[in-house]
Amino acid sequence: MTKLAGLIGFPVAHSVSPALQQAAFDYHGLDARYEYWETQPEDLANRIASIRDSEVMGAQVTVPHKQATLEFVDTITDDVRALGACNVLANEGGTLAAFNTDVTGFVRALKEDAGTDLKGKRVLLLGAGGAARAIVLGLAREGIASLVIANRTVAKAIEVGGVASGLVAEIGAVPFEGKAVAEAAAGADLIVNSTTLGMSGVGGSVPLIAAAIPSTALVYDIVYNPPDTPLLMEAKKAGAQTLGGLAMLVYVGAESFEQWTGLKAPVAVMMAAAQKALAAKTRH
Ligand code: ATR
Repeated sequence: MTKLAGLIGFPVAHSVSPALQQAAFDYHGLDARYEYWETQPEDLANRIASIRDSEVMGAQVTVPHKQATLEFVDTITDDVRALGACNVLANEGGTLAAFNTDVTGFVRALKEDAGTDLKGKRVLLLGAGGAARAIVLGLAREGIASLVIANRTVAKAIEVGGVASGLVAEIGAVPFEGKAVAEAAAGADLIVNSTTLGMSGVGGSVPLIAAAIPSTALVYDIVYNPPDTPLLMEAKKAGAQTLGGLAMLVYVGAESFEQWTGLKAPVAVMMAAAQKALAAKTRH
């Protein structure tokens, strides 16, 4: 019996997750297939119920279903509870377990691909959406010294900052543009973009220009398509170190694979497949 896993979201056609998961299944010689499970909100309950079938190993969950999915699962981890969102489901003999691997995937890329120790770092985070919540939890646990969240809607920045409360000594929320964000950027060791600005198909203005980026900072854009986002190009102009979003995507996927199969994820194979799939998508 061919085992199945898939990506639940809307839309999902842009994703390279199927390519990197299939590469991992094939690497281990598993009789398994990864599918695009594009799902409208009104079909979510049925879609998730189908994951209990014995041939289904689990699913990855993306926008806009990371919160709503929780209503239909049996068990959740502490991270899922803290964030109110999940990105992975595993079918454990008909019981549905929900995980959040965004937190660990985000931090692992910083450690392994940028060689960063987050302890004591001053961080500017752009954006306060769903991805930002997981990022804030990851940063807070790693012992950063201060966090400023800049968002178009400041009330959301304040709310997301609450995820770090009690863990980070200084937490600030500022509007997305203007003096306060420029000041936070000037004093930052790490600048993270979690907004959708710069994403292929979304576009928009660059969140920070080179003149506002210290050459000593690490600039991390979790957008992975295009690989050279407008923000990363500004960061390079400023002489800053850069990190794109593909490593996080691969680590998030690797952890999902390990939950489903109990096997070690072939990270290098998954990264190569992701890069190839991304290059093919950018050519079209
Ligand atoms: P995700 O789950 O990927 O984080 P999201 O929850 O829709 O996606 O969040 C998108 C983020 O990008 C938000 O911080 C959003 O700002 P608002 O909270 O003010 O909406 C930000 N964003 C999207 N478009 C933007 C734009 N044109 N300018 C500034 N910020 C933008």
